[in-house]
Amino acid sequence: MPKVTKAVIPAAGLGTRFLPATKAVPKEMLPVVDKPAIQLVVEEAVASGLDDVLMITGRNKRPLEDHFDRNFELETTLEAKGDTTKLGLVTASNDLADVHYVRQGDAKGLGHAVLCAEQHVGDNPFAVMLGDDLIDERDHLLQQMIAVHEATGQSVIALMEVPREQTNMYGCAGVSELPASVRSGLEDGLDVFQVTELVEKPDPEVAPSNLAIIGRYVLTPQVFGVLHETQPGRGGEIQLTDALAALIDMDKGAGGGVVGVVFRGRRYDTGDKLDYLKTLVKLASERDDLGGAFNAWLKEFVVSL
Ligand code: G1P
Repeated sequence: MPKVTKAVIPAAGLGTRFLPATKAVPKEMLPVVDKPAIQLVVEEAVASGLDDVLMITGRNKRPLEDHFDRNFELETTLEAKGDTTKLGLVTASNDLADVHYVRQGDAKGLGHAVLCAEQHVGDNPFAVMLGDDLIDERDHLLQQMIAVHEATGQSVIALMEVPREQTNMYGCAGVSELPASVRSGLEDGLDVFQVTELVEKPDPEVAPSNLAIIGRYVLTPQVFGVLHETQPGRGGEIQLTDALAALIDMDKGAGGGVVGVVFRGRRYDTGDKLDYLKTLVKLASERDDLGGAFNAWLKEFVVSL
């Protein structure tokens, strides 16, 4: 079976929830303490063994390309000063991964963004990583998902339990137990289910469960054929969830079938302002260089509220 070597990161969104910050700066470049969110996602791809990264971008996304390229002015200045620490921070993102770009043109939805990766990915399984979801580097979700794909041959989605009233914010999965023959090939302790139903942002009353899709996927290339046929769904957009729902019924021996890995680790959401702020506070409070002073201040501040 072909190995998963490529990660696709959709990054064409306009980031309107963060205006005016995102008028001229892509939302993927917003700092998570002092690193752009997109760098954390690329670092996760690389840590999971995927150093070929394709970003699906659009207009106004030049800063993404600049960030993963050399900056001669900064490098020369810092070299002349002998500031190797800062120089290291500047150059770290240059050689992190082999980063490619393709432009989405029309923003017709997540499914359409993934379809833009077809030519680059070819006939191989690949990962899709959504930049609004950050997974703590101490958790190895994507690596586990790749292992589950290799053991089952099926597409793999990451699921997380959410309160019922939040199902309309996510793609939602109906699941059943994995057949014993499939389960026996998997690492012990992983919570893996056969996905039987997928619905994009269902109202709580009709949601098949409270298992929400979070932004990590390992997909078979058969998804491209399905996406070509997928009609606009929720919000008038071509939804990845709808394409995955069609994969459920395809022959498992031929790249069909979807399994879900339930993630119970540390996920940080940067999708809206409140979640973004919570993420900054959590991550800053754990930093060796900042945590001490920040937490001392935070405790006093909370008491003063
Ligand atoms: C997208 C997907 C949705 C998924 C979510 C995870 O929605 O369409 O199925 O649950 O990402 O973050 P979005 O958040 O882009 O609206």
